[in-house]
This record gives sequence, C-alpha cells and structure tokens, in this order.
Amino acid sequence: MPVYTVSHVSNIRICVVMVGLPARGKSFISQRIVRYLSWLSIKAKSFNVGNYRREKKSHPNAEFFDSHNEDGLKIRKEAAVEAVKDMMKFFQDELGVVAILDATNSTKERRDWILKLCRENSIEPMFLESWCDDDSIITKNIMDVKTSSPDYLGQDPELAAKDFIKRISKYKETYEPLEVETNKDLTFIKLINVSEQVIINKIETYLESRIVYYVMNLHIKPRSIYLSRHGESMYNLEGKIGGDADLSERGWKYAQKLPELVKKVLKSEEHDDYDDDDDTDIKLTVWTSTLKRTQQTASYLPYDKLQWKALDELDAGACDGLTYEEIELQFPQDFKERDENKYEYRYRGGESYRDVVIRLEPIIMELELQENILIITHQAILRCIYAYFMNIPQEESPWMSIPLHTLIKLEPRAFKTIVERIKADIPAVSTYKEKGTSQLGEIEDINNKSKNLITGAPLR
Ligand code: ATP
Ligand code: F6P
Repeated sequence: MPVYTVSHVSNIRICVVMVGLPARGKSFISQRIVRYLSWLSIKAKSFNVGNYRREKKSHPNAEFFDSHNEDGLKIRKEAAVEAVKDMMKFFQDELGVVAILDATNSTKERRDWILKLCRENSIEPMFLESWCDDDSIITKNIMDVKTSSPDYLGQDPELAAKDFIKRISKYKETYEPLEVETNKDLTFIKLINVSEQVIINKIETYLESRIVYYVMNLHIKPRSIYLSRHGESMYNLEGKIGGDADLSERGWKYAQKLPELVKKVLKSEEHDDYDDDDDTDIKLTVWTSTLKRTQQTASYLPYDKLQWKALDELDAGACDGLTYEEIELQFPQDFKERDENKYEYRYRGGESYRDVVIRLEPIIMELELQENILIITHQAILRCIYAYFMNIPQEESPWMSIPLHTLIKLEPRAFKTIVERIKADIPAVSTYKEKGTSQLGEIEDINNKSKNLITGAPLR
C-alpha cells in the first residue's frame, strides 16, 4: 500500500542545508528533523559529511581543517561530493522527500555549489544555520559529544577538547554566516543561541514551515517525560475496548500509589528545586485525556493538570465497547484487515494509528517546548508517543507492549533517549492482543517481547 505523505500532494523535495561552526548542534537538529518527519511518514534522511570524511581520514587533528591544508581541503571536498551523490540517489531511487546535508557548509562558495546542484535537480534548498556565541553551551557540547567522537577514539578527553577548540578556530577563519542583507532570495532559518532569537527568510511551502516550527520548539535543557497508562479500568477487566469506564479497584490502587512512584523518580533526578517536605515544589505538569479513567488515575497527584482531547484513546468506532472476540465474530473481515496492517486500518466510523499520529502532532510540538511532563493516557496513544521518542517504525509501533500499572521515564539525550520502567507492583489484566488471535495475552509473555521498553534502546 503506498504511503501518501504531505509532500506527495505538493510534489516538493527539500534539501535542508545545515550551516554553522562545529559543535553548534547541527547533527542534533538534523537527526531530530528526520525523526519527526519519519514519524509523520514523510521520507527523510540525513547525510553527515563527517561520516564520509572519516572513511578517508579517521583521526584528524585541528591542522587537517586549516584552510591552507591542500590535502585536507581535497579530502573534505571529496567527502562532500560523495554525500551529495548519495543524497541525490535518495531523492531519485528512494523517492526521498526531505534530505539533510549535515556539514558545516560554512563558506559561501560551498553553499553556492549546493544551491546550483539543487536548482539543476529541481530540489528546493532550505538553509538552516545554527549560530552560537555562548561559550558555556559550546564547552558543554564539546565535553558531552565531541570528546567521545570517533575522531578522538582512545584519546584523553582533555586533549581532545583542546584540539576541538582549535578545530573551531580554524573554521572561524573562513566562516561566512548567513546574513539577511546578502541572502534575500534564499530560503533560510537562522537559530541564534539555540532559539533565543530566530531569523526566518523566504519560507514558502507548507512542509518548510512545519520544519521551521518544529526546529523553533527544540530546546536543550535536560528534562524527563513520564508516561503512564491509566489504572486498570472496569472495561479492561471485561476485555472491552474503548468506552469511558471508571477505574477498577486495582486501578484505584495504582492511582493512589502513583504519587509515591513519581516522587521516587523525581527524587532520583536530584532536581535543584526539590524540597523533601513539599511535593508541589517539583515542577511537573500532568497531562491527561478527557476520559474518566485517566483523570481518576491522576486524581491523587499534587501537580498542575491539563486535559487534552488529543490524548483520548484511539476511537474504535463501530467496535467501541466490544471485546476482540466479539469484533472477530461481528466484523471478521475488519478483524483480519487490522491484523494485516494495524497501522493503517481505520475502524468503521473510528480511527487508525495513522489518524492518531496526525492528531498527536500538536502534543509532540508542545512536548518539545516543555520541560518535565507526566502524560497519563491510553495504550494506543502511548504507543504513538513512545514511537516518536524511540524512533520505532510504523510496522512495529502498534504492536508494542505498554503494560498497565507501569510508569515509564524517557530522558531525551543528544542522540538517544534513555528509558526506565518503574513497575507499581499492583496486578492488572493484560490488554495485549497478539496478531492472529482474539485472546488477550498473559502479562509475563508480553514483558518478554518488550525489550526495547526495558532497556534504554538507542535511537534507530
Ligand atoms: P560538528 O560540526 O562537529 O559535526 P555539530 O554542529 O553537528 O558539530 P552536534 O554534534 O550536533 O554539533 O552537537 C550536539 C550538541 O549540540 C548536543 O549536546 C546538543 O545539546 C547541542 N545543541 C543542540 N541544538 C543546539 C543549538 N541550536 N545550538 C547549540 N547547541 C545545540
Ligand atoms: O484495551 C485498552 C485499549 O486502550 C483500547 O481502548 C484501545 O482500543 C486499545 O487498547 C488499543 O490497542 P490496540 O490498538 O492494540 O487494539
């Protein structure tokens, strides 16, 4: 089945050309854009010129990047040519929609070369510059990600950091930032000191504006996102889907225990603003759906709460209130079709997982902007949110196990998300249905299948 993306409608292909000195978060931004667009089914890929260069020169010191180093210049140009060649193949052979050329692209000459190639191939160029003169951010970036780069494999981190600072100064000698006055005709976005100030020029298409909006919401403050399903509900006990049931007795027990679980994880983070005597000092906001079971689950939590309609469970339409066995009996063809393609299957009068992802986009945008948030919502919704943070492909995400009575902590880091799962130790039924059956599974079986939930799986 073809996957229709936003840009198939407008038939646009975009090359996002990153611009900026080393350690300005270009790879970070590139990977985030790819993850966001892929989650929305827009075919996107990042081409990191550093990786191509490493094939030819694996451990360069700062002198390699000197603008008078002929050998260095030749290798760097060859790496860029190879990356661009693969990028063109991605557009032509893989029907790519958004490619990101992740390199410093710090001179006008280099950018003009890319611009020309894009125009010859009917690809829309969009420049994305990250400009930063905040030394504390740059030093942190170097220590966090550059000293552990393959460029410095086995080297002392302090010496590596010194060399990296020298590398930056080599780039500074020839760096030509994007200026509005001289680039009036270019489509570009310039981030200044992360997103303290943002300059936007000539953004013309819908897809470009979505990328701009997303990038503007990114921040780099450390934070955690906590996810939980509602406590076991009366419908869960009966194996029924959908509805707006109350919590079961065990569901209420989970609701009562949740403040303690949350307090424990927040405490383990050693928040500066943590005050042992007063939980409300901890800056956390709880988001729930508009359905009773999530609000009841949140009812003992002493934090600000916000209800989102967008967090309501996947709408099962004609099947709402039925068990999977009843669905198989009453709608056998639908039951089969859903198992065959769970992501795309739309319940009669209801929704598909794809529909849910689309309505969750504002939630994801807001989540990028926010700091510590606890989301109490439903199985299908949590699968979609989890898939975004963990970069899980669409074929897998609707089949992921997200058990009841478990608090999940997600800690987004530069190039991965760390996951921790805290069980409340309150029994609950399983709501997990395997492919090819209408029976609900045993909770133990499910846990074995959710390895990526238990360990901190790196982003794929
Ligand atoms: P290089 O040119 O050496 O490849 P880079 O510009 O690609 O460097 P990254 O490897 O992406 O830099 O750096 C990652 C770090 O940048 C992370 O620690 C992240 O928190 C930080 N970061 C993310 N966005 C920004 C930004 N807009 N400005 C500055 N730093 C950022
Ligand atoms: O059973 C709980 C539930 O949240 C239902 O309300 C919902 O339809 C279902 O899970 C989503 O899971 P799946 O997409 O696996 O059927």
